[in-house]
Amino acid sequence: MTSQTDIIGVMGAGAMGRGIVQIALSGGYPVKLWDANAEACADAAKFIERMIRRNAEKGNITEAEADTYVGNLTIIDSIEGYADCDIVVEAILENLDVKQQVFGDLDKVVRPDCVLASNTSSLVVAAIASACEHPERVAGFHFFNPVPLMKVVEIVQAVRTTDEVVQKLSDFAKAMGHRPVVAIDTPGFLVNHAGRAYGTEAFRIVSEGITDYLPVDDVMRDAGGFRMGPFELLDLTGLDVSGAVMDSIYNQFYQEARYRPNALVNQRIAAGLYGRKNGSGFYAYEDNKRVPVPEAPSPDALPAAVSVVHATAEVADIITDLAKANGVAIDDSATPGADSLVIVTPIGKDATTTALELGLNAENVVAIDPLFGLKSRRTLMTTPVTTPAMRDAAWGLLGKDAVPVTVIHDSPGFIAQRIIAAIVNIGCEIAQQRIASTEDIDPAVELGLGYPRGPLAYGDFVGADKILAISQAMFDFYGDPRYRPSAWLKRRALLGVSLLTNEG
Ligand SMILES: NC(=O)c1ccc[n+]([C@@H]2O[C@H](COP(=O)([O-])OP(=O)(O)OC[C@H]3O[C@@H](n4cnc5c(N)ncnc54)[C@H](O)[C@@H]3O)[C@@H](O)[C@H]2O)c1
Repeated sequence: MTSQTDIIGVMGAGAMGRGIVQIALSGGYPVKLWDANAEACADAAKFIERMIRRNAEKGNITEAEADTYVGNLTIIDSIEGYADCDIVVEAILENLDVKQQVFGDLDKVVRPDCVLASNTSSLVVAAIASACEHPERVAGFHFFNPVPLMKVVEIVQAVRTTDEVVQKLSDFAKAMGHRPVVAIDTPGFLVNHAGRAYGTEAFRIVSEGITDYLPVDDVMRDAGGFRMGPFELLDLTGLDVSGAVMDSIYNQFYQEARYRPNALVNQRIAAGLYGRKNGSGFYAYEDNKRVPVPEAPSPDALPAAVSVVHATAEVADIITDLAKANGVAIDDSATPGADSLVIVTPIGKDATTTALELGLNAENVVAIDPLFGLKSRRTLMTTPVTTPAMRDAAWGLLGKDAVPVTVIHDSPGFIAQRIIAAIVNIGCEIAQQRIASTEDIDPAVELGLGYPRGPLAYGDFVGADKILAISQAMFDFYGDPRYRPSAWLKRRALLGVSLLTNEG
């Protein structure tokens, strides 16, 4: 157990260290801070006091509490000052040699029952711990930036880390108002591992010529429910930084295809298209604000008649309503007429395969993604031989009620199906490999990545059977092991149970 009488040490007064100090003080703990650069400590102390006083001004805490918190911070001038600490959290340079050096030194200074935690985001925690005589007291304690606002922390259990150490850090996190999630010491831990699909699959879609960057963002925001599209997010984090993380996790997992980055990334980094921080990425920025890019309007075209084949009820209803409202005939004959636009609604399959399987004339076929509702955005997809007139007729009809329409080239799984399936599949793999518990996976992803739902909950929302159908269809189509369904997904989909189902 921790209690607020525990003394917390924080090493490193940079962006992360000062955030950790602030939340520990606000959790009622006395905190000792040290940094190799004394000026950084002095700056951090001023910054932290300002943040705490601001909280009092906002009425979140009382003046007396602010005084106590500020008074609870001690700047120490050497690591010997950590001697009476119960937990020391390190947040210095991301370099294994440097971290090993300080952990070796700390191990000699602190009491035997003191927990040593590293805020590393990419190093192997066991390697940091190996510098200590007592590696069992070392764990990862991975916060996200900015620490006071990102209310989740990963506790990384290395091979030798004891359960007691994990429990102590978990209690400490909760006392600071953060949600602890436990991950075993694996590349990317939990959150950055779960985040591998969003960007890499989006790049794959663009690199395959299915569509351009911005339409992917439009679809993931409006249909997928994400606050930011994948490229908008990469512009925010910086492609130079995110590109390095993509490479690092992929290589640490010995080139596992599910995490495979894309050649487009390095081309853009080489061109200096980092994103928001230097004003140009997937979007242009002026005064740190994104320059809006207007979408192409729907063409002023309509089909002579429309036939809806094997569609979901929602799609059939919307098309029927739009057709009636715009004077378009409904073609409900078993074999659609030569002039009829034919709408299909594949799950996992591309428009071409769907047209052929249903014995349709591919020139008249346009597919619409049925999985994510049709009220905020519609994704249409053509076969290579769909005539431009049929494409425009579908686009014009589906755009008649002012819902935005995105038109893409043929792709198994459209845009949202393939990206969501990739996210769910990786979430399932994290559960399958026991990297984290099913209780922790979804909250970690929601809080750490800001996704609208965690991967397991998103899979249940769409339907595990549908996610399996998409992954399997993509795997069959491409023959790429990237899309092979996780065993966790497959078993639960086949049994018809929730992806949150654990083995007894
Ligand atoms: N910035 C992020 O978004 C983020 C998120 C999660 C984790 N992390 C991790 O947190 C750690 C710190 O990152 P940051 O962004 O706060 O870095 P930062 O550069 O803002 O601060 C690092 C601080 O460490 C000090 N320092 C460097 N070497 C030292 C040493 N040998 N002994 C004592 N102090 C030393 C520096 O003087 C500096 O004040 C890194 O391991 C990083 O990977 C960063």
